[in-house]
Amino acid sequence: MGRSIKKIDDGSLSNRNIVPFKKNLCSLIECSDNIEFMRTLKKESMNLIVTSPPYNIGKSYEKKTTLNVYIEQQAATISEAVRLLHPNGSICWQVGNSIEDGEVFPLDILLYRIFKDHGLRLRNRIIWSFGHGLHCQKRFSGRYETILWFTKSDDYTFNLDPVRVPSKYPEKKYFKGPNRGKVSSNPLGKNPCDVWDIPNVKANHVEKTNHPCQFPIGLVERLVLSLTNIGDNVLDPYLGVGSTAIAALKNNRHAYGCDIMQEYVDIAIERVSSLRDGTLRVRPMNKPIYQPPIREV
Ligand SMILES: C[S@@+](CC[C@H](N)C(=O)[O-])C[C@H]1O[C@@H](n2cnc3c(N)ncnc32)[C@H](O)[C@@H]1O
Repeated sequence: MGRSIKKIDDGSLSNRNIVPFKKNLCSLIECSDNIEFMRTLKKESMNLIVTSPPYNIGKSYEKKTTLNVYIEQQAATISEAVRLLHPNGSICWQVGNSIEDGEVFPLDILLYRIFKDHGLRLRNRIIWSFGHGLHCQKRFSGRYETILWFTKSDDYTFNLDPVRVPSKYPEKKYFKGPNRGKVSSNPLGKNPCDVWDIPNVKANHVEKTNHPCQFPIGLVERLVLSLTNIGDNVLDPYLGVGSTAIAALKNNRHAYGCDIMQEYVDIAIERVSSLRDGTLRVRPMNKPIYQPPIREV
C-alpha cells in the first residue's frame, strides 16, 4: 500500500541548510520556529511526520503557559503539519502529560480532537513504556507516554515485516486440522503490538546527548520502517537533537526537520555527520531490555 514520492528537488531547497549525507538522500535541518519552517515546504510532500512537542511543563526549551494557550499553539502546528502530509501518509504525535498544581492532564486526550477535526483517522494509540523517570511522592511514578498514529486516508503505507519481533514460542505447532504438526507462527516473527517497552534516553544510554528529552532512535525506526518506503520523506517539526532525521537517513529515507534552539540543531547536524562516518552509537531497534543478574541486584 502507499507510494513513494521523490525528495523535494525542484530547486526550492537551494540556499537551504542541507546537511551532507549520501548522494541521493536529502537532509534538511534548520534552526527555526516550526511553523515558519513548514510554510517553506510543499503541500502534501511528507509521507511521515513524527514528532514530540514540548509538554508545557517548563523545560529549558519551552515557555510554560496556560493549558488553553498551549493547545492553541499545538493546533497551529498540527494544522501546518496536516497541510504537508501526503494523502497516503501518517502523522505520529508522541506526548506525555502536562502537570498543573499536581493535577495530571494527558496531552494525547487533549490533542486528539484537533487531529479528528482535520479529518484524520487514528490507527493506533501506542503505549511507550520505559523504566526510568521521576520518583513521585503523591501519585504513582509515570512510566509510559503515548504515540497517536493518524493517517490522512484509508490507503496508507503499513509494512509489518521489517518491524516484526521474535515470537514467544517460535516452535509452536498446529495441533489439529490440515496443518497439524506444522509450525504455526510466522518465521519472520510477530507483530510488535501497540505496547512498546523501549528504554528512554537517560544518563547511561549510548545515545545520550545534552538534550533532556530525546527520542530513542529505535523507537522512531520502528515508525519509519513500518509507515514509509525507501525514498520517502520524513519530517520532524520539533527535531531536538535529530533522532528522527537519523532514523530516516539510516533507513534510506529523506529527512526534514527544525528546532528553535541552535544548540540542539548543532548536535543534530553533528550526529548526522557521525552517522555518515559510521561512528554514531545507536541502540539496536529490537535489543531486549537489560535484566540485571540477581547478584547485581
Ligand atoms: C521533546 S523535545 C524533542 C526532542 C526530539 N524528539 C529528539 O529526539 O531530540 C521538543 C523540542 O522542541 C523544540 N521546540 C520548542 N518550540 C519549538 C518551535 N516553536 N519550533 C521548533 N522547535 C521547537 C525544543 O527546543 C525541543 O528541542
